[in-house]
Amino acid sequence: MLRRFSISLDENLLEKFDKYLQIKKYTNRSEAIRDLIRDVFVKEEWETDKEVFGVITFIFDHHQPKIQEKITELQHDFNEHIVSATHVHIDHHNCLEVVIVSGRAKNIRELHEKIKALRGLKNANLIMSSTGTDLA
Ligand code: NI
Repeated sequence: MLRRFSISLDENLLEKFDKYLQIKKYTNRSEAIRDLIRDVFVKEEWETDKEVFGVITFIFDHHQPKIQEKITELQHDFNEHIVSATHVHIDHHNCLEVVIVSGRAKNIRELHEKIKALRGLKNANLIMSSTGTDLA
C-alpha cells in the first residue's frame, strides 16, 4: 500500500534535487526519493553486517605465476559464500571473472579484499547489493 507524506525542503535544496532528477532521468520526485531511501537501507545493511548479496568482478593476467590457482583456492575457502562464478577470456593475456556472492557483509568484504590483494590482479570491484529489508 502506498502512503503519502509531504516534505518541506529548502528552496535551493529542492532546485538541486530537481536538477539531479533531470540528470538521472527520473520523471517524478517520489520514485527518486524511494530509490534514495532504498539505497540508504542497503548501505546500512552492509555497514551493520547483515546478510547481503554482492558481485565481485576482477581482471587479471593469467600468465602471472600461480594466479589462477590462488583465485580458485580463495573461492574454495569462501565456498559457502559463492553463488556463482563466470570466467571470460578477454584476450591473449587477460581474463575477467564475475563472482556472485552472498552472506554476512564482513565475510564478503574480506573475500573482496583478499582477491584484490593477489599479486597480478589488475582491477577488483565489489558491487554491494541487498534487498534492503533486513534492518532491525
Ligand atoms: Ni581466461
